Amino acid sequence: MCCITFNWKENDAVEKVEHFRRKRTVSWAVVEVTEACNLNCKWCYASSSYKNKNAGFMREDEIIFILNRLSEAGARQVTYSGGEPSIYPHLDFAIKEAKERGMVVHVNTNGYMLTKGLAAKWAGLGVTQVQVNIDSTDAAKHDEIRGRAGSFSRALKGIGNTAAAGITPVSQTVLTSENEGEVMRIICLARKAGVERVRLWDMMLSGHAQDRRDMLPARYLEILKEVSEYALQTGAKSIEAGEPLFPLGYETGMKVMDSFCVCLAGLLANFSVSGDAYFCCMHRKPLYNVFKDAAEERLDGLHARKIREFSDRFSLPEKCVKCDVLGKCMGGCIARRGFTPDGRDYWCTE
Ligand SMILES: C[S@@+](CC[C@H](N)C(=O)[O-])C[C@H]1O[C@@H](n2cnc3c(N)ncnc32)[C@H](O)[C@@H]1O
Repeated sequence: MCCITFNWKENDAVEKVEHFRRKRTVSWAVVEVTEACNLNCKWCYASSSYKNKNAGFMREDEIIFILNRLSEAGARQVTYSGGEPSIYPHLDFAIKEAKERGMVVHVNTNGYMLTKGLAAKWAGLGVTQVQVNIDSTDAAKHDEIRGRAGSFSRALKGIGNTAAAGITPVSQTVLTSENEGEVMRIICLARKAGVERVRLWDMMLSGHAQDRRDMLPARYLEILKEVSEYALQTGAKSIEAGEPLFPLGYETGMKVMDSFCVCLAGLLANFSVSGDAYFCCMHRKPLYNVFKDAAEERLDGLHARKIREFSDRFSLPEKCVKCDVLGKCMGGCIARRGFTPDGRDYWCTE
């Protein structure tokens, strides 16, 4: 989950991440409740699209099964994602059931359906954070990336509606060669629209982006550095980093939480609509199936074992073993390492 989140306002993320870290067991999950989507994003790791007419969705009993297993494992948070959760018929049910189990609930949405009414409903059900992508300041460019006209203006309105409903809106941007020159402008626009948290994603080479190395930004780590300088200058308080290479070799001036891969640490579980558990959203080869395997075994033990078995398959490249910063980056992102001949993370500059 190589993303970085900058916070202009104090939030409970610090306490939460520290709690997760102490437990060292599965603590939150991204649950893809449906494959169906109303957009067709050119980099979608889940390969979702409105063109898929046979898209599946989780049944209510499957939602209950996953939430019960997560609860038993002591997980405290669930993020509903997809596909597009706002068009998932059982989303209200899924939110209520998670809240009844004392979980923090976040929703990852493209914002297309996020009217004032929907935002107010989610707030009433107990959703505390909603993530919406802004991928360009240019409406036509954002719409082209997201595959549907009108998605830019509706995403911006959705962020405003989320803030007005009292939910924390987070803007997300997938960094690519197409928008790396306007990242600062995107962040300014998102802040004007009402966000207090801004998240930048490394573009993962999976799903629709599987063969799109041409779309990788040229200056990924430099951009993260520039944005952290900007964030500091504009009063940001902290950074949550799920990026093992951030920050390497410089001080951000802000409190940085983590800078390690939360998937490799076994803290975050990613479940597809059919219950397949992935190492991360990029590495979408099933490690186990939660519906089948967690019926026999507790999820915390199962998940930890499967992550261990998975990571044991990757030996560190020679160059990493001798590198001074190995103790900090732990070899970088395992998924990215799979794309280079020498097995090094392709963003490594050491
Ligand atoms: C798969 S979408 C599903 C939720 C919702 N439909 C949406 O648009 O946010 C979840 C989010 O993951 C991020 N994402 C999707 N594909 C990605 C990729 N290839 N690399 C990095 N981030 C990606 C985007 O921020 C996207 O909005």
